[in-house]
Amino acid sequence: MKVEVEHVLNGRDSSILRGDVIDGKRYTSRTFAKKEWQGLWTKIWHVAGRVNELEEPGDYIVHNFMKESVIVAMQEDRELKAFYNACGHRGLRLAEQSSSAVGGFHCPYHGWLWGLDGVLKSAQDPEDFTAGNPCGKLTLQSLRCDTWGGFIWYTMDTDGPDLLDYLSPIPQLYKNYPLESLVRVFWMRVDLPTNWKFATDNFSESYHTRTAHPQVPPWIDQDYWTSRHEVWPSGHGRTVQPMRPSLSDRLPDGEVHPFDQIMEYWGLDPHAYDNFETKVMQGWLDLKNKKKCTWRERGYDHYANLNDEQLTDSLHTVVFPNITISFLPDNIVFFRTEPHPDDPEKCFFDLWCMAYPVAGLETVESIMAGPQPMEEAMFQYRDFDDGAGVPEIEGSIVYQDMMLARALQQGMNSQGYTDSNLAGQESRVRFFHELLNDYIDVHQVSGCTE
Ligand code: FES
Ligand SMILES: [Fe+2]
Repeated sequence: MKVEVEHVLNGRDSSILRGDVIDGKRYTSRTFAKKEWQGLWTKIWHVAGRVNELEEPGDYIVHNFMKESVIVAMQEDRELKAFYNACGHRGLRLAEQSSSAVGGFHCPYHGWLWGLDGVLKSAQDPEDFTAGNPCGKLTLQSLRCDTWGGFIWYTMDTDGPDLLDYLSPIPQLYKNYPLESLVRVFWMRVDLPTNWKFATDNFSESYHTRTAHPQVPPWIDQDYWTSRHEVWPSGHGRTVQPMRPSLSDRLPDGEVHPFDQIMEYWGLDPHAYDNFETKVMQGWLDLKNKKKCTWRERGYDHYANLNDEQLTDSLHTVVFPNITISFLPDNIVFFRTEPHPDDPEKCFFDLWCMAYPVAGLETVESIMAGPQPMEEAMFQYRDFDDGAGVPEIEGSIVYQDMMLARALQQGMNSQGYTDSNLAGQESRVRFFHELLNDYIDVHQVSGCTE
């Protein structure tokens, strides 16, 4: 179903909710995880990777999701095709990891060779098949595949909405950003001891920021009344916050202020304002103007189509059900959790820090992993290990979130936790669970016994 921008709901208004319970079993039960597989994961669109991971015909991405695995391969005409990663003879997994296929996919069991297009090219003893020679006739099972935003998407659903309808209104909201040009400067997957929904819950509200991320309020306004909390019937939602200090959060005198540094970078004098309030409110407007006047000469080509809001603000966007994309003026941070194949109390957390190329800029602030070279990063896979496994992101916002994961999951196992008590500004958390219930057709988990 296509959802228009104007179908927006107020994500701080609890009257948009019907009040489904968010109990602990949703995060611990194998039965519930199975329902998610059947009703959710086989219906939604998944991200397989970035388009620029595939450079030449024959290059392919393997995306493993729970016990499923999918191959997306670039064809001779540079179009993309997606297949289930299972040989059409006896089912063997054809490819273990992303790579480049020369001449097609060769199965190491009985030697069948599948073309890049998924059609069987050769088989041993082809005359020995009752239905006739399978070559040129049998194909790998294909999936629908498409691209948006420089991401490759696929769905296991044969007749659900097309990608752009599924994502709506996100492509419309973010049409001004040249997302295809992004460089992924940091790329890490982390094993985390919590259910995958931890991340969607967490990124659907900013109520935890003052406590968990004390470094953020002087940089991004955390007063909920100055933010917009938006959600659409498709489940996608966002928190739009000005990237200026909250008026209610003051750093002690003499401390280096991140907003001052940003102003100075853009040639504004933070000391030219009479007081803190004027600097914050007028300085934020001056910053917009300065960016509009000087982006071209400074090589900030990605600003070419951004509007006033997009030039200076944080548009922290949840793509239902498991992806969050933080749209910042110079960076995109992509967060995703995917469930563990066997254990609902674990997940994989993907962190992709991306930035737009700027002429002459060789190093970029990645937001979550410090300064990084402006080039495509190598993939890293880690066990979180209570923080010890990911020193590259220690102290970052996402690290602070991850540090909460284990204790949150432990709480989900307590008989003392029966439902959330949410602030108005956290309404999107329950909205997410209600839509999830619609997908899996469960409005309470009372039938769940595990
Ligand atoms: S399972 Fe692949 S050729 Fe037999
Ligand atoms: Fe957080």
